[in-house]
Parts: sequence; structure tokens; C-alpha cells
Amino acid sequence: MNGNYIYSLLAVIVLFLLAYVGVEAAGLEVFFGVIIPYLAFLTFIIGFVYRILDWARSPVPFRIPSTCGQHKSLPWLDHSRIENPSNTFFVIVRMLLEIFCFRSLFRNTKAEIREGGKLSYEMEKWLWLGAIAFHYSFLTVLIRHLRFFTEPIPFFVTLTETLDGFLQVGLPGILISGFVLLAAVFYLFLRRILISQVKYISLAADFFPLFLIMGIAISGILMRYFSKIDVTAAKELAMGLVTFQPSVPGGIGGIFYVHLFFVSILMAYFPFSKLMHLGGIFFSPTRNMRGNTREIRHVNPWNYPVKVHTYDEYEEKFREKMIEAGVPVEKKE
Ligand code: HEM
Repeated sequence: MNGNYIYSLLAVIVLFLLAYVGVEAAGLEVFFGVIIPYLAFLTFIIGFVYRILDWARSPVPFRIPSTCGQHKSLPWLDHSRIENPSNTFFVIVRMLLEIFCFRSLFRNTKAEIREGGKLSYEMEKWLWLGAIAFHYSFLTVLIRHLRFFTEPIPFFVTLTETLDGFLQVGLPGILISGFVLLAAVFYLFLRRILISQVKYISLAADFFPLFLIMGIAISGILMRYFSKIDVTAAKELAMGLVTFQPSVPGGIGGIFYVHLFFVSILMAYFPFSKLMHLGGIFFSPTRNMRGNTREIRHVNPWNYPVKVHTYDEYEEKFREKMIEAGVPVEKKE
């Protein structure tokens, strides 16, 4: 039984209580509405830049692109340009497909031992679908949220909101991305506890961001559709933060501060967590290198002259002993 998710769930519950009680009972609006978001943003920026510089500085002396297609080689062999790009243009095409379509995840397979001990591999597209739904709904929600941080609101934000609310159901109108986000994150969680192999390798650090994002989505949905907070006041606070003239209008309600606190924790946690794959993908040598080892001989630039002991020298030294022992030698004399 993997109980790691309990620790993460408890951590998120404690965070919820801290913000809710902190604002509702102790009146810590400035702390949770201004100080924590600024500190979290600072940690995010510094941590993110630090990790990126660290990766950018890491030497990659070898060609290690991961490929599953034919290398560029002899003219009559069909070269797989995207799988095994030999020039920068196709590296970019491959990266774009990876980043926007999660192309390698699409090839995900599931291994199972069938009756009679036979190992079988099957296509498994659910994880890809869940991941696409999760990332694109998250992006849509983020774009829509720009309306809190901009004045006038840019046209693409309004357009995203209009498209997202195309169902035109309810008041305030239902925005699908928020619900897709919650459903997708819930699927990603269920997968980790229901599939035994995935459960076995899941750590508290895998569950924590899932619960945190679940918390963000649930508190957001509560605010929009159920507890109906004062959105104008929330925008005033958000605008105060981005214009560095922080102000804390009264009466926004504890649930808003919980939402903001969860987002702040996510930001501060981001650079130190697996979520850094957002930046890491660009620095992954298995993806961003050209597979041209058959066209060009790559020599490690740091190779230094090494004193070697050649076979000739070896045989010269031990020839008599080798002959005595009946070991074949190349030169008889
Ligand atoms: C990781 C970042 C964030 C995520 C994923 C997120 C997610 C959500 C979701 C799913 C909703 C439900 C309604 C909807 O779909 O829009 C929502 C509502 C809301 N969020 Fe966020 N949020 C984030 C950051 C923030 C921040 C930084 C603020 C600070 C101003 C904020 C303020 C609000 C407010 C005021 C609502 C209620 C909107 C309404 O009543 O129309 N959110 N959020």
C-alpha cells in the first residue's frame, strides 16, 4: 500500500486551514494577500532562473538524442527527419511537436503479463489525453486570469473567455476549462492510486502538486459559482500587486485568500519540483540535439593525450613468457 498521498493531502489541508483561519479569524489579509504572493513570486523567478542557468551551464560532451527512426546515413536509406533530425530545422520541428502535442507521450505503451506468462504491449492513449486536457485547460485558465491583472483587458483574453464559455449555460456563465482542469487533475491522481505499477513508484512529491492544483481549481470554482465573491475587489487587489501599489480591499472573503495562497505555494514550490519540466524540456539533450553521428565524427573536446600501452609493447614485454605458456603471439622473434 502506497500511503504517500496521505502526507501530501494533509499538507494541502494544513495550507488551506492556515490561509482560511489566518484571514477569517486573525485578519491576516495583508500577509496572505500581499506579503506571501510577493515572496512566492520572487522565489519563483529566482529559483526558475537559477535552475535554467544551471542546466544551460551543464556540459553535454556526447551526442545523446533519443531516437526511434532511421539515422541520416547512406543515400538509399530512407532518413526519418523528425524522429532523428540531422539539422537544426528538424530539431525545432521535433521540439515543437513534443511541446505542443506531447508527441513522445502519444507513443506510450502499457506492458502486461497475460495468461501463460506472455508479455504483451498495448497502446495506451489515456495518459496522453489526460495530460493534454490538463495542460491546455491550465493554460486557458491562466490566459483568462489575465483579466485580473490588466487594464484595459487585452482582446485575446476576452476572446479566450468567450470561446471557453461557448456553452452559455448558467449565470455566471460556465467556463469549461476550469472543470476540465479539475477533472484532468483528478484523473492524474486516480491513475496514481489505481494502477498498481504507477502507485508503486509514486512519491509524496508526485501527489503534492496534484492536490495543490485540485485545491486551486476547487477554490476557484467555489468562488465563481457558489460563494460568489466580490470580483471587483479581487481585481483591485490583483492590480495593486502588479502595479506595486498593493492595497487590500475589505470583504473579499477567506476562500479568495485560500485560492491565492495555494497559487503562491505552487509558485514558490515550482522551481524545486518536478514541475520544472516546463523549463527542462528545452534543455533536454535527448530532445534538443541533432542525431548526426554517422555524418560527423564527434570527438569529446576535453580529450587529453592519454599514455597508452599498445599490444605491440605488451607482447614485446611478455613474448617469452607467452610462448612458454603456449599463448599465441604475433611476432615469433
Ligand atoms: C496557477 C494559477 C491559477 C489557477 C490554475 C486558477 C484557477 C482558477 C479556476 C479553475 C477558477 C474557476 C473559474 C474559472 O474557471 O475561471 C478560478 C477562479 C478565480 N480565480 Fe484563479 N487561478 C489561478 C490564479 C489566480 C490568481 C493569482 C488570482 C488572483 C487574483 C486568482 C483569482 C481568481 C478569482 C477572483 C476567481 C473567481 C473568478 C470569478 O468569479 O469569475 N486566481 N481560478
